[in-house]
Amino acid sequence: MRAALFSVLTAIISFVQAAFFSGESTTVNLRAQASPETCGNIADLVPLFQMYDAAVTVHFYTADDSKVTATIQEGTYAFNGVAALIFPTLEPSTVPFFSLVNARTTSFFYTTNATERSNALAAGYRDYETTGYIYPTQVCGSVPLYRAHFIGANTDYIYTTSVTERDNAIVNQGFVDEGIAGYVIELASGIIID
Ligand SMILES: *[C@@H]1O[C@H](CO)[C@@H](O)[C@H](O)[C@H]1NC(C)=O
Repeated sequence: MRAALFSVLTAIISFVQAAFFSGESTTVNLRAQASPETCGNIADLVPLFQMYDAAVTVHFYTADDSKVTATIQEGTYAFNGVAALIFPTLEPSTVPFFSLVNARTTSFFYTTNATERSNALAAGYRDYETTGYIYPTQVCGSVPLYRAHFIGANTDYIYTTSVTERDNAIVNQGFVDEGIAGYVIELASGIIID
């Protein structure tokens, strides 16, 4: 069963990478005008994957393929698709998107804000990884990455570019709107890498 899941996941990742990073197309798009000097090199963008552990109601986001396959193999997380495209290394106009994990609740928290990071560390979170690099302001064809927070014993955070997904979490699942975590490139942005 796990071997089968692993194969499916590998296929999904291959599909995403082939579809968005193959560089076969010559399609022109708005982003062609974004200069690498100010916007970073869009050829470097990678998928920010979304995982979900239904048993403990925790969302987990990472751009690290090996963490995706490892968490799938552990058998608790389900693969939920691609939340956005982000940079794996520092590029012009971007800032680090820090990831922290709470050992007690196993929930993950993501922020670009150093004060929020310090507050989370003081509240029982520890640094997990630098998830990647995103824009702190809406530049270069980016869109808002919305943050919603479920406050409770099983605290949880959702990050999404979808207003529908955010509003569903707020209206139907008890999440609180916490604004915008940063600005990212949408998977369906029409970006063509070549
Ligand atoms: C960072 O977080 C702190 C604490 O929540 C907040 O007061 C501050 O306005 C935030 N800074 C930015 C740039 O959003």
